[in-house]
Amino acid sequence: MSPSESRPQPQLLLGALRVLFLGDVCGSRGGGGGAGTRRVLPALDGIRREAQIVFGDMHAKATAEKQAMGWFLDGRVSGVFGSHTHVQTADEAILDGGTAYINDSGMCGSFDSVLGMNKDQSLRRMIEMVPVRLRPAADDVRINGVWVDVEPASGRALAIGRPAQSVAFVRNQAPAG
Ligand SMILES: [Fe+2]
Repeated sequence: MSPSESRPQPQLLLGALRVLFLGDVCGSRGGGGGAGTRRVLPALDGIRREAQIVFGDMHAKATAEKQAMGWFLDGRVSGVFGSHTHVQTADEAILDGGTAYINDSGMCGSFDSVLGMNKDQSLRRMIEMVPVRLRPAADDVRINGVWVDVEPASGRALAIGRPAQSVAFVRNQAPAG
């Protein structure tokens, strides 16, 4: 047995909670607000029994719903990250209870586009109402996301950042040889 194998290895268990509130702006149909939101808690209890650090993905159209879920889960999870609207927001913060939060973590894909899709096709579809098939755009590719520094023992978030990195992207490259 090597020295590194005989040493106890720290174990960190991560959990994830995904909440979908698409099309239910501010709980107007009963799924997003009130009792709907509270249905998240039993699922979260189960995840927390298995994991030290839990992140929540709040997948919704309305910024208000995502913000409300951030406050609702503040102190219950290490981070709440909004998704679906594709545009990275500049409101990243550590909330009062120690939860890292951002309204939308952004998109990985082409920024010379409409939400990652070919902009000419998107314009034809939206302005001329032509049922054009949308294909992914390929220029100005960037990686968006979120990083969070978490204290493992408590699960409290200490810091959050939102990278927005351009990447080189090579199209239609023939295999060498
Ligand atoms: Fe979505």
